[in-house]
Amino acid sequence: MPTTQGTPTMPPIGRDTPRVDGPQKVTGRAQYTSDFHFPGTLYAVPVEATIANGKVITLDTAAAEKMPGVRAILHRGNIGKIFRSTVGQGFEGICEERRPPFEDDVVRYYGQYIALAVADTFEAAKAAADAVRATYSKDKPNVETELKPDDDPDTVVTTFGVRHRVDNQRGDANAAFASAPVKLDHTYVTPSETHNPIELHATTAVWEGSMLTLYDSSQGVVNLQSVLAQMFGLPRENVRVISKFVGSGFGSKLFPWTQCPLAAAAARQLGKPVKLVVSRKMMFQSVGHRPRTQQRVRIGATPDGKLVSLQHDYLYQRSMLDAHHEDCGETTPFQYSVPNLRVTFGRAKRNIGSGADMRGPGAVPGLYATESAMNELADQLKIDPVKLRVLNEPKIDEGLGVPFSSRHLLECFELGAEKFGWPRRTSAVGSMKRDGLTLGWGMAGCSWIAARFPAAASVQLRDDGTARVACATQDIGTGTYTILAQLASQRTGVPLDKVEVALGDTSLPAGPLSGGSMVTGSVVPAVFKAADGAIASLMTVAMTTPGSPFENRKPDDLALEGGRVFVKADGAATGVPFADVLRRANLRLVSGSGESESTFGNPKPKFSTHSFGCHFVEVTWQPETARLRVSRVVTVIDAGRILNPLAGRNQIEGAVVMGIGMALLEHTSYDPQNGAPINSNLADYVMAVNADAPPIEVHFLDFPDKEINELGARGIGEIGLAGIAAAITAAVHHATGVRVRELPVKIENLLV
Ligand code: MOS
Repeated sequence: MPTTQGTPTMPPIGRDTPRVDGPQKVTGRAQYTSDFHFPGTLYAVPVEATIANGKVITLDTAAAEKMPGVRAILHRGNIGKIFRSTVGQGFEGICEERRPPFEDDVVRYYGQYIALAVADTFEAAKAAADAVRATYSKDKPNVETELKPDDDPDTVVTTFGVRHRVDNQRGDANAAFASAPVKLDHTYVTPSETHNPIELHATTAVWEGSMLTLYDSSQGVVNLQSVLAQMFGLPRENVRVISKFVGSGFGSKLFPWTQCPLAAAAARQLGKPVKLVVSRKMMFQSVGHRPRTQQRVRIGATPDGKLVSLQHDYLYQRSMLDAHHEDCGETTPFQYSVPNLRVTFGRAKRNIGSGADMRGPGAVPGLYATESAMNELADQLKIDPVKLRVLNEPKIDEGLGVPFSSRHLLECFELGAEKFGWPRRTSAVGSMKRDGLTLGWGMAGCSWIAARFPAAASVQLRDDGTARVACATQDIGTGTYTILAQLASQRTGVPLDKVEVALGDTSLPAGPLSGGSMVTGSVVPAVFKAADGAIASLMTVAMTTPGSPFENRKPDDLALEGGRVFVKADGAATGVPFADVLRRANLRLVSGSGESESTFGNPKPKFSTHSFGCHFVEVTWQPETARLRVSRVVTVIDAGRILNPLAGRNQIEGAVVMGIGMALLEHTSYDPQNGAPINSNLADYVMAVNADAPPIEVHFLDFPDKEINELGARGIGEIGLAGIAAAITAAVHHATGVRVRELPVKIENLLV
């Protein structure tokens, strides 16, 4: 590999690359949103409704207003104008809770903000918020867990646009089911789950005249800019959003929640910066959750295991006003070959805050249901579950009627089965033992969307031999700083440690949401084009600077490799460091910019683009003590070319741990009396932690998908959570004989 100014470098793409921002994080220098301090900052604490359905009748703020350090108690009467926002072109202006805070007196969910205390210190603001007294007229809240579809029309408007309730169909699923020799008809339930990133949602709003700057723990600064500009009636360029480090989000920080306009309105009113950090309890109430789902799956098959009919009818809960769509049927039309298919959805309104995307939205609960049904069908037919899937492998995407760009699910099964030792499985329940424990082995397949959001980027080459790459995307802990540095380094030859990365700021070229596992795939073309632009400028400088060794050469004669400009015919060894070329011309830098267009949601794609994978899971079961542990997981992922295998494995391992939580622990319960989430803290909302994590073996296939970008890289954040719960519940059945169709699996389910 070429060298740059004497420093040996390796091509950074495809190499295990430690996080370039790691030292900043471990030394505490990384500034998360609530770490930004400004002189005169005031602190805001919202007052939460203590009912879930009714009206605020009186709000007594007198005592709170007189408390020391209190600047204001803001409410419907004095907050000032806040407009609504609406969805714009492309993936822009999205908001899961549209109602501006305090817009009316109606309370539609427990914890809805009804006032805001602002004070000189956080403690004074909290005390004042606690001192505000509200009286209500109350109705019984509806937090019923049994879901029946509301009387919705056939076509509904959701947060993400218009959706037909018959999501997808081909052939005649009903008739084919009725006449199928083998039938399966089961309903699977997933609970409400709450995102619990360690960093709480936070916003600091700073006004300078009509310019609003928001420091926000956002997974999407560009979208937040658009929503807040609308809410405050400003031109978009008057709003700047900064999100330098995010302590994860899992989707809860994709779109703005009401603490953003509250902080901005308070700062506007009081003429000072206002910081609002939501509490852990508020995280369970007002910043989204994965909605509860209830999914009926009907499969008709032949006795030898060929699917003839598949029906997936799913219901999910929604809030009273908003229409988050939980797209459980996303993967159903293409995962398996089946001539007759019908996917429908229904919605049930509840007195619960708005739902939101949570890691692998739609597909994660959806695949839990459909993959569980496949496992049950395999047992019913006494066919190995891997074999059943292989038998029903489609040749094309039968939903869209187009080929897959790159689908290697069968290779995933093959490698996973081999690494796990699956051929040694004996199918009878409780038939496998080790060290006095009963073993259960289960598996499932998975998939996740692969596409690009629109992205722009800029790249600079500078006279000290460094480069800078900039894009208004975010790093939510997944490694985006590192990927941007790798891409810029790859294309320019500047070593990784000499690449500066700027992201998380709307003043940079507009970048993608940190969502849908799509950042990496989206930024590749934009960064490469920007780097090419910077290199082209450099060559022009080299050819036109008087006295340059490349004066009067033609562009085609020259190349840049390993940071050196050289005449191709003479070879790289004769080259000149690009920094010398710039210095000779008295230039600090040359720059280039690049854009790439969206492929997401293309209604007529030429190819079906998805990532695929599978999980093989072992559980151990001790019936004497009802002790169930996930003891081993092998996961194989086909996500195109992996640009940073170290960060990639880390993503999949994290997702598998989250999947253990999904299968065995996580659920948010709402009190039927007052509608409050009961377990709204980290002690009672039980998640899988390190102690629950078994040895996890992650393998990536390496089939570059050039439909997505020239490197062939798809995304890997979310797919690891898809399918894992179905593999775990299959393993639980294999060990215990108990078929659990409502997550999470509870100890009491197994005491039979
Ligand atoms: Mo992910 S739920 O798209 O942050």
